[in-house]
Amino acid sequence: MIRSRISALLRMPAVQSLSRDVLLKMDPETAHGAAIAALRLGLTPGQEIPDPPALRTALCGLDLANPVGMAAGFDKNAEVPKALAQMGFGFVEVGTVTPRPQEGNPKPRLFRVGPAEGVINRMGFNNEGHEAVLARLRGLRVGAALGVNIGANKDSDDFVADYVAGVKRFAPVADYLTANISSPNTPGLRNLQADEALRRLLGEVLAERARAKVRVPVFLKIAPDLDEAALDGIAAVIAATDLDGLIISNTTIGREAVAGLENAGEAGGLSGKPLFSLATRRLAQMRQRVGDLPIIGVGGIHSPETALAKLEAGANAIQLYSALVFGGFDLLDRIKRGLAAAARTAGASNISALVGSRTQEWARGGPGA
Ligand SMILES: Cc1cc2nc3c(=O)[nH]c(=O)nc-3n(C[C@H](O)[C@H](O)[C@H](O)COP(=O)(O)O)c2cc1C
Repeated sequence: MIRSRISALLRMPAVQSLSRDVLLKMDPETAHGAAIAALRLGLTPGQEIPDPPALRTALCGLDLANPVGMAAGFDKNAEVPKALAQMGFGFVEVGTVTPRPQEGNPKPRLFRVGPAEGVINRMGFNNEGHEAVLARLRGLRVGAALGVNIGANKDSDDFVADYVAGVKRFAPVADYLTANISSPNTPGLRNLQADEALRRLLGEVLAERARAKVRVPVFLKIAPDLDEAALDGIAAVIAATDLDGLIISNTTIGREAVAGLENAGEAGGLSGKPLFSLATRRLAQMRQRVGDLPIIGVGGIHSPETALAKLEAGANAIQLYSALVFGGFDLLDRIKRGLAAAARTAGASNISALVGSRTQEWARGGPGA
């Protein structure tokens, strides 16, 4: 009763913009901690109306109420997947989780690039490790599809073994797994995207998956900082495997889109609005190379229009994170309403009819390129 009153209060636009303004005044990592705490305490508005059938999405055998997911990195330790599902995300990806707990890089390590609505992070896979995260997920009914994003410890002497351990640990509790080989904040990790290394990684990860009792879909999350030859290489390697899908993309080490702005010189990966066009171009270029392999599009979605553009570029489902820092959680509702309206306008009974409708244009760089 009290919770539902608080929830109704929190849904009021004035309260939403007030809490957003308060969070934006805080140091970014403190603000993130406050958001997680609010979710843990149930102090965030729940979804009121069920998603319309037009948003229902099939992804690798998963039945999603809508195609909008929470990207990895927000809930690294699986503290609030259920609360995120209650807010209306169609799927929630927790992690990155590494076998052993690790502290990540020294603070400060998270920066806003305010005027551009960008975020730079060099968190460095701070997380509580497999055991703690598994303990939270065992027996948990999330209410939306649950992804577990797995990675490697910074000081590991065998990165591939860390991913294999992640598959073994989380296959029994996850609806899908993501092998994240694209964080710029663990030295050497992105080398796993190169031909031979990727072949070995996928060979071992997918062999471990095959040993699990239930077949869990495995996605590979790649960087946007890859040229077309590198995309060719990745496409050729995955064509010879039974990988289930790609997540495109992680953050960029490029700074062209924020040159000269405050914090642009900080080391780490850039996300949010300034990542949108690069990540969407890479997504479309990969769509041209992988046929109808499922792709989750992520990077810079900050409005209903950019969410729709990701789908049109070739994504079967989408994720977001950084824009929630600037737009607040009501952005999720606005995106879902916008997607349902776009399906109606196109005369389609489901949003999936628009997937890939503008891949060629985005592969060349998007509208106006
Ligand atoms: C603070 C922060 C931490 C992140 N941590 C992870 C992570 O642990 N694993 C991962 O795969 N991606 C991580 N990401 C990347 C996001 O999942 C996403 O790919 C990227 O931010 C682009 O989406 P966005 O522009 O909507 O934020 C992180 C992003 C941010 C901003």
